[in-house]
Amino acid sequence: MSALPVFVDVDTGVDDAMALVYLFASEEAEVVGIASSAGNVAVQQVCQNNLALLDLCSVDVPVSKGSASPLTAPLRTAEDTHGPEGMGYAQLPATARGLTEYDAAQAWVRAAQEHPGELIGVATGPLTNLALALRSEPALPRLLRRLVIMGGAFDYRGNTTPVAEWNISVDPEAAAEVFEAWGSGTASGLPIVLGLNLTENIAMMPELMGRLAAEAGSSTRPMSAQDPRGTRSSASNPLIAVLEDAMRFYFEYHFAHNEGYLAHLHDPLAAAVALDPDLVECRRTTVDVELTGTLTRGMTIADWSNLWAREPNALVGVDVDPAAFFDRFIARVGAFAKSSLGEQA
Ligand code: RIB
Ligand code: CA
Repeated sequence: MSALPVFVDVDTGVDDAMALVYLFASEEAEVVGIASSAGNVAVQQVCQNNLALLDLCSVDVPVSKGSASPLTAPLRTAEDTHGPEGMGYAQLPATARGLTEYDAAQAWVRAAQEHPGELIGVATGPLTNLALALRSEPALPRLLRRLVIMGGAFDYRGNTTPVAEWNISVDPEAAAEVFEAWGSGTASGLPIVLGLNLTENIAMMPELMGRLAAEAGSSTRPMSAQDPRGTRSSASNPLIAVLEDAMRFYFEYHFAHNEGYLAHLHDPLAAAVALDPDLVECRRTTVDVELTGTLTRGMTIADWSNLWAREPNALVGVDVDPAAFFDRFIARVGAFAKSSLGEQA
């Protein structure tokens, strides 16, 4: 069976990086392009992280640079959560790789036009560049085979404001344009939207990181909340070492915010669902985004009772089996680390 063409729009970021590695590790997927979106860190840093990950994983994928800022709002970034360069404590060596000469919005359109009806889109950052792509090619909803968005919080608290999730909160106007575009009744399929209500069930913990290192055949030292802040990985496998250093910053952030020594793998879940939608249970509904609320700007609303009487525009994820996800994540990323980087150890 030919590989599934996948286009990923990321604001790399710790969990975005793990989502990319999962896709590189998935034999049924061919990542045909990566759009770098400003979000967790500034867009140039996102580009550098994406290019350096290609070196680390020895894969070749065109990387495109997106808009430096949201459609209308000023850019906000999240170095407190993802680290000064967006990769936690991991420091990826500079790379000689370059960016495409076309930008991220054009990259979306080119990929969709090169794989009409076949391309699977995954968006795990602010939707700025997807919105710009839709402005340039309104047929995008018909050209994509599937779209998975990590964003929003449905009947659930936010992580950026009391009601807004980060990806949507950074560029609510872009998110509103994306949901509007898929509500016109002409799309090939509705986007699968994975909000915090679902992704916060996917909690990476030290024990699971230990399973991952073992699957990769890598020596390492168990990660613990008792470790001094900033302890660096001793993993023998270079990819495991990077993932441990990245995750530790994320663990420390959540621990400092009384959420436990853990980190939610929002974006890797979106990547896994992009390849296998059966991993989650979804409900069809109409989603829209609050743009003008003083307290609620960036809030995602699902019209479960169809009170707006509008076309459905989303399949909102409502249930997932975390163990099934982690079994697959660890099996694939562990084997990938072992095979493609083990010999460098
Ligand atoms: O709210 C979680 C999302 O915001 C994830 O995609 C994370 O990487 C950040 O971008
Ligand atoms: Ca992200």
